[in-house]
Amino acid sequence: MNTKLSQATLDAINNENGCATGLPNQAYTSEEFFRMEQQQLFAKTWTCIGNGCSVPGPGDLQPVGFLGQPLVMLRNKQGDVRVFHNVCSHRGNELVWQACQVKNTIQCPYHGWAYDLDGRLLATPNVGGSGVHSIDCLDKNEHGLRAARSAVWMDLVFVNLSEDAPDFESFIAPLQQRIDKLVAREKFSALRPAASHGSYTIDFAGNWKLCVENNLESYHLPTIHPDLNAVSKLEDHYHFYGDDLFAGQGTLKYDHEKTNLDAFPVFDGWSDMVAEYPTLYPNVFLGLQADHYWTRFVQPVSAERSLDHLQIYYLGDAADDPDFDTARAHRLEVWARVFNEDIGVVEGMQRGRRSSAFSGGVFTPIMDKPSHHFAKWVAKQLTQGNH
Ligand code: FES
Ligand SMILES: [Fe+2]
Repeated sequence: MNTKLSQATLDAINNENGCATGLPNQAYTSEEFFRMEQQQLFAKTWTCIGNGCSVPGPGDLQPVGFLGQPLVMLRNKQGDVRVFHNVCSHRGNELVWQACQVKNTIQCPYHGWAYDLDGRLLATPNVGGSGVHSIDCLDKNEHGLRAARSAVWMDLVFVNLSEDAPDFESFIAPLQQRIDKLVAREKFSALRPAASHGSYTIDFAGNWKLCVENNLESYHLPTIHPDLNAVSKLEDHYHFYGDDLFAGQGTLKYDHEKTNLDAFPVFDGWSDMVAEYPTLYPNVFLGLQADHYWTRFVQPVSAERSLDHLQIYYLGDAADDPDFDTARAHRLEVWARVFNEDIGVVEGMQRGRRSSAFSGGVFTPIMDKPSHHFAKWVAKQLTQGNH
C-alpha cells in the first residue's frame, strides 16, 4: 500500500474555503502508515511518555514502550526524572521488566551487570571468570545506559528519540504563555497528584489520532456528553489555536450547583475563564480547572489500538487528605464517565474507517475547526521534506 498522502488528498485536507476533508482511512488502519508516523512524526517531535508522579521517589523505575522501543523512566538520587533506553549494554537484555523500586543500582537479571541511577555502569560481576569482576578490554565508562533526550513539564515526561527536535523550552513556550494567563506559574507548584482515585488507563480499539481529534472539539457535547452539557453547555464553549503546537476548547461557565467544585480548594486568583482543555500535539490533553488539574496522554500501541492514561492533581492537602477521599472518588467517576463516552465514539469512528463508503469525511469549518487544525498538522509532519 502506498502510505504517502497524494497531492489531491493534501489539497482536500488543507482546503480553507469551505468543508475540508480528513485524513484517509489508511491513516487510521494501516500498520505501514503507523510505522511511517513513528519515523516521521513521533520521532521528530517531543512526545509524552508518562507522568513524573509515577516515579515519585529516588530509585523508582517504570518501563515504557515507545515507538516499539523499550525505555525506562526513573527518578535519580537528586530527585530528577531521567529516561534511558531500557536495554543492557552487555547482551541486550531488556533491563527493567516491571515498575519497581531499587536502592542504588539497577541490576540486569541476566548476568548481573549493575548501573547507577544516572546510567553509569558500576559492576560487571565475574566478567573475567569466577571471582574476577573486570577485564582490560571493557571500559565501564563506555558501556553505560544510553540516555534518551527528555524533559519534564507540568509533571508530564517528554522524550525525543531522534534528538533533532528544538529545545523543549522553545517548543513549549507558546502553550506555557497561554497557561500563564490563566494562572500564575508558581501556583502550579501547590498541585499534588491525587493519592487515591487519581488515575486510570483505558485500553481502546482505536487509532491515537481519533482520540486527539475527538478531544479537540466541543461539537459532540450535547449528543455524547448530555450530563456534562447540563452543567457546561455547548454554547458556553470556545475553541483556540496555537500555530503548530496546540489547539483546544474552553468553557466560560459551569453550573457549580450541580458540581462539587466547592469541596476542593481553588487556585487563588483564577482568571474569569472557568476551564481550558488544550491539546498539545501530538498526544497530550490537559484539563485546567479552578480546583484541579488533570493530564491525559495517548500512547499509540498499533494502528488500531491505543492506551489513554489519566492523572488528576489537586491543590495542597486536598490531594491526599482522607477527608477528601469521597470527593476525589466522585470527581474521578465524573471524568471517567465523560472520557468513556468519548472512547465509545472513538471506537465507533475506528470501525467506520473500515467502510469502503467513507474516506476522510467532512470537517465543517466552524464546529470541526480544531480537529481540522490537527489533521493539517499531521499532514504537514508527514510530508515535510518529502516533496
Ligand atoms: S545481558 Fe545484562 S548482564 Fe548480560
Ligand atoms: Fe468528549
